[in-house]
Amino acid sequence: MFDFKIEAADKATMYRDLASALEGLIAGESDAIANMANASGLIYETLPDVNWVGFYRNVGDELVLGPFQGRPACIRMTFEQGVCGAAAKTRQVQRVEDVHAFPGHIACDSASNSEIVVPLIRDGKVLGVLDIDSPKHGRFDEEDEAGVVKLGEILSRVL
Ligand code: SME
Repeated sequence: MFDFKIEAADKATMYRDLASALEGLIAGESDAIANMANASGLIYETLPDVNWVGFYRNVGDELVLGPFQGRPACIRMTFEQGVCGAAAKTRQVQRVEDVHAFPGHIACDSASNSEIVVPLIRDGKVLGVLDIDSPKHGRFDEEDEAGVVKLGEILSRVL
């Protein structure tokens, strides 16, 4: 078991520590499922006020549920569906302050109120998305976005 204690005073430091912990966890491991599984555990344990952290993989232009932490979630989405679909389709981060106001949002856990989804791209191909949900409205700010994008960059290399 890995026991990372990431308790930084400020968010930027916390994300820096989280990124280096992630680099350490995936170092030398090429199995995508193992890396997604450990990444979801690390992020879920580290970020405060999150209730779901996980992956949807691009399987034949459909987003299929991958390793995650949290409640069982919907299994398949098209690129036209949900916040995850919007991230995959536009290749842009989706940072949603109030998921109930997002057209087409898919509620996997009724406790979720805000969400950030980062597309995972390598060599021009969308590999999937990293999805993080929170029960708090507006949980994710620009610093979170920068931090989660960095995590996505690290992960895109090993998925
Ligand atoms: N809310 C997401 C669906 C996945 S769950 O949050 C785990 C969406 O609208 O894409």
